[in-house]
Amino acid sequence: MLTGIIVGAGHRALGYAELAKIKGESLKIVGVADPLPERRKYTREYFSFGEDMCFESAEDLAARGKLADVIINGTMDQQHVATSIPLLEAGYDMLLEKPFAVNEAELQLLADAVKRTGRKVMICHVLRYAPFYAEIKKRLLNGDIGRILNIQSAEHVSYHHFSACYVRGKWSKHSECGASSLLAKCCHDIDLITWFKSGVDPVSVDSMGGINFFNAANAPANAGNYCLIDCPLEHTCDFSVRRLHLDNPVRWRSYIWPKTAYCPEANTPEYREAALKDPAHPHARCVWKCDNDQPDTQAVMITFADGTVATHTMAANTSRPLRKLHIVGTDGEIEGVFDDNKFVVRRRDLTPGHLLPGQKEYTEEEIDLGDMGDTTGAFGDHGGGDLRLAMDFVEFVAGGTPSISCTQLSDSINGHLIVFAADTALQDEKRQFYKDGKFTPRS
Ligand SMILES: NC(=O)c1ccc[n+]([C@@H]2O[C@H](COP(=O)([O-])OP(=O)(O)OC[C@H]3O[C@@H](n4cnc5c(N)ncnc54)[C@H](O)[C@@H]3O)[C@@H](O)[C@H]2O)c1
Repeated sequence: MLTGIIVGAGHRALGYAELAKIKGESLKIVGVADPLPERRKYTREYFSFGEDMCFESAEDLAARGKLADVIINGTMDQQHVATSIPLLEAGYDMLLEKPFAVNEAELQLLADAVKRTGRKVMICHVLRYAPFYAEIKKRLLNGDIGRILNIQSAEHVSYHHFSACYVRGKWSKHSECGASSLLAKCCHDIDLITWFKSGVDPVSVDSMGGINFFNAANAPANAGNYCLIDCPLEHTCDFSVRRLHLDNPVRWRSYIWPKTAYCPEANTPEYREAALKDPAHPHARCVWKCDNDQPDTQAVMITFADGTVATHTMAANTSRPLRKLHIVGTDGEIEGVFDDNKFVVRRRDLTPGHLLPGQKEYTEEEIDLGDMGDTTGAFGDHGGGDLRLAMDFVEFVAGGTPSISCTQLSDSINGHLIVFAADTALQDEKRQFYKDGKFTPRS
């Protein structure tokens, strides 16, 4: 059994730590570091340890030396590097949330610290553990479609998700939160592409996109500045904070009402409505009149050293949230929708007479991974990826054989570099080229 300390007791770190409740023989949570007293109290009571194992920050904890085997670091994006380095130096192995760094300089600092300390660091690329992607990876390794020629992936971020997180929410300004919408939302998808292509370096990256919908130009003429304070359209607007969140108070509640995330009994209808009638509350604002600077549509194109071309599209404001994948190989293709939890493997069919009516020119094998609800219930969010990842982390640190999904920090570097390069390409309108571990525009 490993002992672990939670650093940054938000919903992500607590989600992975749930392993200690489900498989108590593999992990025991013995401490917490978080500046918020209510989060320290909640975590201490939930996992039953003493006040002496509660710390006000990662830095305070690190100053005490090594008090457990591992850290589960669920701090926010911009804090990952600053909180991780002292803890690695104190001798901890670590499960670290993505994105592990928000720019190239930070990435290098952390990569150097991991090398210097020799500690094990696993990045939370939970989708690698979701059965949908793990099965596809197995098919690729098995050579089922031959060598990859082309990858098309897409993430559709729903209207309520994008508006709650990237327009009104804590990732609404890249310039403040440090992470672009592509990094925060799609570093998983780009990671999956590099995982499918593992062992093959990228050659170039280009990107196009912008804010095409969530901006002032789309505000109706008589829209107010705050839904519940001065907007005459509030009862009919699809982005009314009442219709999106007061009428559906479970949706994104820890983002909309973070102060009550740890005392749900205080999250009453009266509290929720009063909070959203306060003009200082970020979610009180008209969705068209925020100071958001995150692209709501973006496409990324990546070329690889073996000629593979991969594209990823992030589209916000979709009615249905989903991830789509289509991989074309020399001998066949794989196509599926993550949220349906099934994919098909297609191959050419040259059976004589195959062009007769009703016959296809290909064979199709359908892989149905079952009800996503089941996997989600048993193994946490992300198609069941969350807890499978936590279990693999314990196995990895304990010296077992890492699974094919295990993402050590070094495995996540190219994915992060591609996202940084895509954002630079978008901003500078210049394709970026990879050489010796770095992307630069061609001079
Ligand atoms: N893997 C995924 O699919 C996935 C999904 C959603 C979010 N995330 C990532 O998970 C991370 C956490 O997100 P969240 O919503 O749980 O965040 P959160 O804001 O709820 O939690 C972060 C916690 O860190 C604490 N903190 C701040 N400074 C600290 C310090 N110096 N030492 C210790 N604790 C400190 C904060 O008080 C807070 O409680 C983010 O990086 C986010 O991008 C990952």
